[in-house]
Amino acid sequence: MACNLCFSKPLHLFLALVLGAFTTFLEAQDPSQLSLDYYLKTCPNAELIVRKEMECAVQADPRNGAAILRLHFHDCFVQGCDGSVLLDDTVTLIGEKQAEQNVNSLKGFDIVDKIKTRLEAECPGVVSCADLLAIAARDAVILLGGPYWDVPVGREDSKTASLEQANTDIPTPQQGLVTLISKFLAKGLSTTDMVALVGAHTIGVSRCASFRDRIYGDFELTAKFEGTSQLYLSKLKEVCPEDGGDDNTSPMDSFTPNLFDNAFFETLLKGTGLLNSDQEMYSSLLGFQTSSLVELYWADPIAFFTHFSDSMVKMGNITNPEGGEVRKSCRFVNS
Ligand code: HEM
Ligand SMILES: *[C@@H]1O[C@H](CO)[C@@H](O)[C@H](O)[C@H]1NC(C)=O
Repeated sequence: MACNLCFSKPLHLFLALVLGAFTTFLEAQDPSQLSLDYYLKTCPNAELIVRKEMECAVQADPRNGAAILRLHFHDCFVQGCDGSVLLDDTVTLIGEKQAEQNVNSLKGFDIVDKIKTRLEAECPGVVSCADLLAIAARDAVILLGGPYWDVPVGREDSKTASLEQANTDIPTPQQGLVTLISKFLAKGLSTTDMVALVGAHTIGVSRCASFRDRIYGDFELTAKFEGTSQLYLSKLKEVCPEDGGDDNTSPMDSFTPNLFDNAFFETLLKGTGLLNSDQEMYSSLLGFQTSSLVELYWADPIAFFTHFSDSMVKMGNITNPEGGEVRKSCRFVNS
């Protein structure tokens, strides 16, 4: 892996503008119809470029893979997968970065910028930021040991964002099972999709602010039959005191935090899930269906990988009916 190549300086803004001026106008395709060969003629190396950059990013820090996967999720749950999550606040646009579940929490924007710079150098104005994110999320999963799936592409980037929708539609760790299920249903995703997709928590970390309620709440109750849980709980309380330490982190998959495997589901079976929302999938009194899915994904890693891949394609298929553009910079709409 030629990782020294990955850290090249971003194109100078002036150069980017000049290149932008020569951008060929591409006829917009119905953005609700994604396809596998969308960039076959216009940017045949797009996937390769994303993969190279993701290899470097994940090699530098596996957390980068988790950050990118989460960005794609938070993108798709607000106005569809349209790159809205990537927009910076400006005088004319209120972005989503200050939303409750995003602020001080989302990472990976610098990685997106780097990939976008590469793509613009190779095929200016062709590959959308929303597609970039969908491909990069898939690559993050493979690079950490998870399944491969083909990524349908052809999304357009939005010219708007919705802070309000980000605050209402993105699930929170405090919510109960019924609310979580309805939030996924509202996006056309089934309960099975939800449990499979939450398996993404097999990688990455949570901040103390997101799991404090849980460890000072019902953690002891759900974990009472697990012998080593007291030790784990006291470690968590060290990382996350009752007051302060909001940004201290702990992995959600306490077994193999940097591996995309099915061990996360074992934490739920043991009652030691870090987030309240995660443990709900197994321990909720209403979780007949979800608890059997947790058991299935723990017992059968192939079933988890297959469902996860299918559900990622489904989540990636949520479109913004407004359509949009191919942004030159993922942080700003084209002027
Ligand atoms: C029930 C729905 C979900 C809830 C309530 C939820 C909640 C959370 C929370 C609270 C965090 C920690 C954030 C922080 O403290 O800064 C987190 C992290 C993460 N989530 Fe979710 N999540 C859900 C579903 C998903 C889905 C569907 C995906 C992707 C397919 C996903 C991917 C991730 C990843 C990869 C991380 C780690 C990010 C990092 O390490 O930077 N989550 N999630
Ligand atoms: C994606 O969405 C389109 C149109 O909304 C639909 O026809 C297609 O079946 C969907 N594909 C998947 C895999 O959900």
